[in-house]
Amino acid sequence: MTDPAPGSLAARVVAWQQQHGRHGLPWQNTRDPYRVWLSEVMLQQTQVATVLAYYTRFLERFPDVAALAAAAEGDVLALWSGLGYYSRARNLHRCAQVVVAQHGGQFPDSSAALAELPGIGRSTAAAISAFCFGERAAILDGNVKRVLTRALGFDGDLAQATQERLLWQHAEALLPEQQVDVYTQGLMDLGATVCATRRPSCPRCPLAADCVALAQGAPERFPVKTRKLRRHQRSNALLWLEQGPLLWLVQRPGQGVWAGLWSLPEYDSVQALDAALAGWPGQGEWLPPFKHVLTHVDWQLQVLRWRLPPGAAEAESRPGSGVPAGRWMRFEKALALGLPAPVRKLIESDACT
Ligand code: ADE
Repeated sequence: MTDPAPGSLAARVVAWQQQHGRHGLPWQNTRDPYRVWLSEVMLQQTQVATVLAYYTRFLERFPDVAALAAAAEGDVLALWSGLGYYSRARNLHRCAQVVVAQHGGQFPDSSAALAELPGIGRSTAAAISAFCFGERAAILDGNVKRVLTRALGFDGDLAQATQERLLWQHAEALLPEQQVDVYTQGLMDLGATVCATRRPSCPRCPLAADCVALAQGAPERFPVKTRKLRRHQRSNALLWLEQGPLLWLVQRPGQGVWAGLWSLPEYDSVQALDAALAGWPGQGEWLPPFKHVLTHVDWQLQVLRWRLPPGAAEAESRPGSGVPAGRWMRFEKALALGLPAPVRKLIESDACT
């Protein structure tokens, strides 16, 4: 087999990747499935710049799949803290355990088998397999959907499963016979650096000459997806309860926002929190409200910081009936746990003052 057919979309993506794409990222230049898998999962919903530091720290702590499988879930979540979408971390941990228990510690070497593992969808499986094993498997993440729908002028509504399936077929038909790894990285790089959602840099694009969306004068119209994400509003109060060097933390339920993470006790409303604390010793102040943006939810949070006088509650016991079960923890210990990013920020900002 030779290089991709001259002039084909794949050939241009490959040539562009070699000249203008990204080459020095820490998960490139390796065919170790553990490293590639870890990077792809981290990159699923997080940008490269953020992933870099997490990736290095994660690998230092868990250098191989066996080390990760043997870890306590809390330690994995703690290292993930701040990356968001914590179901990724839990699936990552479960996936490592399945690879060790059912595959002898070796990742399977086909996209079909990889896609059976926890947390690995079709596109991620294809990326791992293309990078590590050179398999001709198509990826189709959000960035690549944008590149391909624009280049092809594909205006089917991706909210419909049939249209999404059709686009997968196009993605497969466009695969080159050779250099699938470079091609795959090229599509990712194009989507991340040139074919931006808004104001794409078409003059820099190797596909501009016959990009249908550009010829129509409206690349931003693609991809077409009618079903808009419905955002919900939610508001809650959080209790930052402290007694000297101790902080009261509760572990959140296994489902829902920040599932499984340690956090400040949550209340339905400011009034509910006020009522729970009625008559308590000590003093409190409401911190300025802030908004935490999640995928489907705008979450308004108000934090009451309440300082109990020394000795008001035993170090082992619950400070009062209005507070959910949890634990007193020293601030340093709390910071070593898997805390939600905004809670960590709050506590850290205090530790610095
Ligand atoms: N986004 C998803 N996978 C990526 C990769 N391998 N390199 C850069 N960005 C990515």
